[in-house]
Amino acid sequence: MQKISADVAIIGGGIAGLSAALGLSQRKVVVVTKAEFGKGGSTPIAQGGIACAMGKDDSPDLHTADTLVAGDGLSVKDCVDILTAEGPEQIRKLIENGAQFDRTPDGELSFGREAAHCRRRILHANGDSTGAEVERALVAAVKKCPNIEIVENCYVADLIQDQNGAISGLYGRINGGGDTIVVEAQAVVLACGGIGRVYQFTTNPAESVGDGLAIAARVRAVLSDVEFVQFHPTALNTKLDPLPLLTEALRGEGAILYAGGRRFMCDIHKDAELAPRDVVARGIWAQQQKGLEVFLDATHIGNEFPKKFPTVFAFCQQAGLDPRSDQLPVSPAAHYHMGGVRVDQFGRTNIDGLWACGEVSATGVHGANRLASNSLLEGLVFGARVSVDIENSFATRQRHAIAILPELQRPTFVTDDELADANLLRKTMWNDVGLVRTESGMKHALDVFDEIVARNPQSLMLCNMIDAARIITHAALERKESRGGHYRSDYPNHDPNAQHHPFVYTGNGPWR
Ligand code: FUM
Repeated sequence: MQKISADVAIIGGGIAGLSAALGLSQRKVVVVTKAEFGKGGSTPIAQGGIACAMGKDDSPDLHTADTLVAGDGLSVKDCVDILTAEGPEQIRKLIENGAQFDRTPDGELSFGREAAHCRRRILHANGDSTGAEVERALVAAVKKCPNIEIVENCYVADLIQDQNGAISGLYGRINGGGDTIVVEAQAVVLACGGIGRVYQFTTNPAESVGDGLAIAARVRAVLSDVEFVQFHPTALNTKLDPLPLLTEALRGEGAILYAGGRRFMCDIHKDAELAPRDVVARGIWAQQQKGLEVFLDATHIGNEFPKKFPTVFAFCQQAGLDPRSDQLPVSPAAHYHMGGVRVDQFGRTNIDGLWACGEVSATGVHGANRLASNSLLEGLVFGARVSVDIENSFATRQRHAIAILPELQRPTFVTDDELADANLLRKTMWNDVGLVRTESGMKHALDVFDEIVARNPQSLMLCNMIDAARIITHAALERKESRGGHYRSDYPNHDPNAQHHPFVYTGNGPWR
C-alpha cells in the first residue's frame, strides 16, 4: 500500500478542482484524477463557453436574473449573486493564467449569445473548444506549482473518517488494478464531476459515473436536489459512447429541428429551438416516441462551419456526415447534474473536513435547470472560494491520524457480466428515470438495481454507479411534481410549495 500525506487532497482535475488547487498552492496539495491528468472529465470536452457579465451593456444583476429564470424557482439567489459578481474577477485570473479566449478584430473579448441569456455574455475559445483551452491553461499553471502533486489514473474507492467522523483522507486504486493508495489529508475536496454515465445516452465522458455523489453519500454527507438531471437536446445520434455534443450555439446561430420533414418546436414553445433545454429535449423525445427520427439542420452556416465549430465538424466527419450539406440526426442525452453534495457558499459540506465544488456539488446556483454556460463559471468561482475557506480553516482544524486500513479486497478486473450489468443499469435509468418519469417506472428501476447488486456483491466497478442511480431514483420518486429537468407524467404540474430537497442516503449495500 502506498501512502501519501498532504494538507489537502482534491479529487478531480477539471476546472473546479484545479481552481481550488491553485488557490492552495502554498500548501501541500495532492490532486487525484481518475484518468490521465488533463485528459479526463467534462472540462476538456466542454464546447459551449463560459457565461460572464463582462460586456459593457451587461451586469451581474442581469446575469443573476437570467440564471434565476432558468432555475425554475429553485435557485439559491445568494449563491447566484456570488457566481455572477465574482465571475469577472475569476475570468481575469484565468486569463492571467494563460487562457486565451476568442477576441474581436480589435482585440476585445468576444461575447457570444446563447438561449435564455438576455445579453451577449458567453466567452468561447477556438469556437467550440472552450473547455480544452481552459483545461490546458489550468494544467500548465498547476504544473508550475512545486507543492501540487498529481496522482493520476486513480479510482477513489472511499473517503476515510477519523474517530470523530471527520474526513481525514481517501483511499483508492491506481491504474484500476494492483496498488492501493491512501492519501492522508486534513481537508478533502470533491471536484470529480457528475453522473451522466449512469444513463445509456450521455454526452459525458467515461469518468462521470457518480463517484463523488456515491462516496459522499456513504459517509452520510447531505445531498440536495439530486433528482434534477439536465438532458441536452442535441447530441449527435450515432453509435458512439459518449454521444458527441452538438452545441447549443448551433441553434443560437439559427439551426432548426425537424422530424418527419416538419419543424415541430414552433408548436411547443414561443422560442422554438431556443426554448429552455428541458422543453426542447422533451419535444425531441416526444417525436422519437412517435417513431420519428429527429434532425438538426445547420446547413445555412455553410462554409463557415469548420472554422466556427471545429469540434462539431470533426465529430460529424467521423460519423460520415457533412454539416454544410447534411441534416444531423439528434437525440437528447444526459448532460449535467444540477443536484449533488449540498454545500454552503464556501463549498463546505455538513461533514467536517469535506468540501465540494463543481458539478458534484449542489450550491443551489442551478436550481432545477442550469442556464447554458454557467457550469464552467461555477467551477471556477466556487473552486476558488473553497480554497479560501480551507486556508482559513487551517487555523482551527486538527488533523487526526487515520486508522490502519485493510487492503481493498474487491477484485479490480472487470468481467463481461459486470459490463452487461452496467449496460442494463444505464438502459434502465434512461427508460425509467430519464426525461419522462413515472412512479411505476422508477419502482421498476429500483428492482432492477437490487437484482444487479445481488449478482455483483463485490463489484468495485459497479458500486458507485449503483449507489448514484439509486440516489437519483429515490429522490425523483419523492419529488411529486414537475419542474426544470425533472418531469413526471404522473405529476405534470409545479407544486407551488415545492422546496429544495435535502437527501441523506440510507442505503447500506454490501459495497463496503
Ligand atoms: O450546448 C452546449 O454547448 C453546452 C453548454 C453547456 O452545457 O453549458
